[in-house]
Amino acid sequence: MKKVILITGISSGFGKQAANLLAENGHTVYGTVRNEPGTDSLIHFLKMDLMDLGSIKNAVATVMEKEGRIDVLINNAGMHTGGPIETSPLENIKLQMDTNFFGLVHLTREVLPVMRNQGGGTIINFSSIGGLMGLPFQAFYSAGKFAIEGFSEALRMEISRFKIKVVLINPGDFHTSNSANRRNFLAPTDSNDPYNEQFEKTLGVIEKDEANGWEPIILARKLVKIVECKNPCQRYIIASFEQKLAVVLKYILPGKLFRMILADHYKIS
Ligand SMILES: NC(=O)c1ccc[n+]([C@@H]2O[C@H](COP(=O)([O-])OP(=O)(O)OC[C@H]3O[C@@H](n4cnc5c(N)ncnc54)[C@H](OP(=O)(O)O)[C@@H]3O)[C@@H](O)[C@H]2O)c1
Repeated sequence: MKKVILITGISSGFGKQAANLLAENGHTVYGTVRNEPGTDSLIHFLKMDLMDLGSIKNAVATVMEKEGRIDVLINNAGMHTGGPIETSPLENIKLQMDTNFFGLVHLTREVLPVMRNQGGGTIINFSSIGGLMGLPFQAFYSAGKFAIEGFSEALRMEISRFKIKVVLINPGDFHTSNSANRRNFLAPTDSNDPYNEQFEKTLGVIEKDEANGWEPIILARKLVKIVECKNPCQRYIIASFEQKLAVVLKYILPGKLFRMILADHYKIS
């Protein structure tokens, strides 16, 4: 059955690839961008910034005006900050949480009455492996994704009686614009910042992992299957064997041992 899909953040990465594949499969795709909309005739572009509640309301109102329903909401858009907890500017911390968490919350709340009134729907929320374990020097990114995890689990229980499904996606490392767009806080080298040296070392690992990550089309293809599946699972971890193993190890190993393994990976001394 062809669906009306609203997907956020289709200017690059997973969003771009998934919007194209979904439209090619015959679904009606509304994709949000912050800058000038593209001209792809298969996709309906909507201007929306997760930091701007007015633009969120407008985007939903436009889809409703044109289609009268939203079958699937894909909360994909997000950004990434990196830096030490102690010295990262408050502005970066707020930007991280406002975009990745509160933006998702505002849009979801806007779409919920639509799905309730039409008798069902599916909400797909992008978390991360970083939403299952705290990642060093990505604390606010991880915190935002943990928040999405808790929000999604609670939401699932509140809205199951309205036949609205909630699916969590946990990608591992993928080669998208995520790295280039990351807002890092690196103190000037002469500032005696107590974290700089360690952060630079860890950032090197993070960027290498992402550069060697999978291509986003792999996730996009999986997302199409999830959208078209009658009974999707509650969660999909789409990651390398090592990253999936890390998720399992976190729950079975003693905490200290797991922390040592993670610290070793991120070259934390
Ligand atoms: N790549 C990975 O390894 C990875 C791993 C785990 C989870 N994820 C998650 O996957 C999702 C997609 O990321 P990606 O890797 O595809 O990154 P990406 O290529 O950087 O794409 C992010 C998208 O989000 C949009 N966006 C950013 N801030 C926004 C805002 N304030 N309002 C509206 N849209 C905004 C961007 O639009 P602009 O072009 O306007 O900035 C862009 O379209 C994110 O939720 C990310 O956290 C990615």
